Amino acid sequence: MAKIIFATGNEHKMTEIREILAGLNGEILSMKEAGISVDIEEDGATFEENAVKKAKAVAEAAEALVLADDSGLEIDYLNKEPGVYSARYMGENTSYEIKNQALLDRLSGVPKEERTARFVCAIAAVFPDGEVIVKRGTIEGYIGDKPAGKNGFGYDPIFYVEEYQCSTAELTMEQKNALSHRGNALRAIKGELEKRI
Ligand code: IMP
Repeated sequence: MAKIIFATGNEHKMTEIREILAGLNGEILSMKEAGISVDIEEDGATFEENAVKKAKAVAEAAEALVLADDSGLEIDYLNKEPGVYSARYMGENTSYEIKNQALLDRLSGVPKEERTARFVCAIAAVFPDGEVIVKRGTIEGYIGDKPAGKNGFGYDPIFYVEEYQCSTAELTMEQKNALSHRGNALRAIKGELEKRI
């Protein structure tokens, strides 16, 4: 069975990833489980660049198929901010309660039709022979007027989806995975992996 390392330290993401990639002919390991520790600066201009950079850095340290993702929130009214800076917006150590409130304040008085936003996720796969594949997944939504919900993480409490008329922090993990940017990117990359392993 092939070894597949997912280059993330985020346990929340690993749970989603294992659920969606279940059924692949491979053993999915986190970096920690694979005994790899690599510090990677996410300084690319695009989600794709960052995902490839992370996957390549980990692939250098492991003889395995390596997957890595980069994701974030794009708010159209704010020229797609926070974008690739989503995790670092207002500082890496600032709580999401504060980040989310700051974004709501910046959108104060903006009507719903101009509050469109999306979560984006790029996933890169680096194969042991050096081949690189990247897939992008998105989920469209809008920024609500107030935070709601306790599920998920990050910007979920302010990101609302039309289909459910609630925030992604109010969805169950199954509901979110079925629609999410990461779910869509993982399903796309899973299709490519199934052809190769
Ligand atoms: P990454 O871990 O470098 O991909 O950083 C992604 C950042 O984007 C996270 O720290 C969150 O702020 C945000 N983000 C990405 N995906 C989600 C999501 O599904 N819900 C809420 N926030 C997300």
